[in-house]
Amino acid sequence: KSILVLNGPNLNLLGLRQPDVYGTVTLDNIKAQCETKAHDLKIGLEFLQSNDEGALIDRIHKASASHAGIILNAGAYTHTSIALMDAIASVNVPVIELHLSNIHAREEFRKTSYIAPVAIGQICGFGAYGYSLAIDALLSYLEQNT
Ligand code: DQA
Repeated sequence: KSILVLNGPNLNLLGLRQPDVYGTVTLDNIKAQCETKAHDLKIGLEFLQSNDEGALIDRIHKASASHAGIILNAGAYTHTSIALMDAIASVNVPVIELHLSNIHAREEFRKTSYIAPVAIGQICGFGAYGYSLAIDALLSYLEQNT
């Protein structure tokens, strides 16, 4: 069993970027935490980041062949991308929507998610720990549904 952790635009700047909102942990730190957890749980895990909407869509298309599920932090594309929503709806792979910040407690435009209607569920507001929560939630979902 292998899962894909997919990160969208500007998440490569974590740690430097608005630390008051997103914390000081870097994406490399989060990647290491996810890999340690996957190793402990004896599952495969691929961790990727792209600033490119098309690259994220391509990766989602390919995931149905390679991964049992996706954890997706789509960054600001969450609030804009019908194309990402359509990509998720087009493949038979469960997706968990993830955000470091609580998107419902911020600007109005962040309350709209194009990912939410096609995701199993959403985790937001728990910072880097959300990645660990999302791995547990995805594995629990896969155990019950596959
Ligand atoms: C984010 C929330 C988005 O609104 C924002 O555009 C991001 C990060 C988060 O993880 O909190 O880039 O997805």
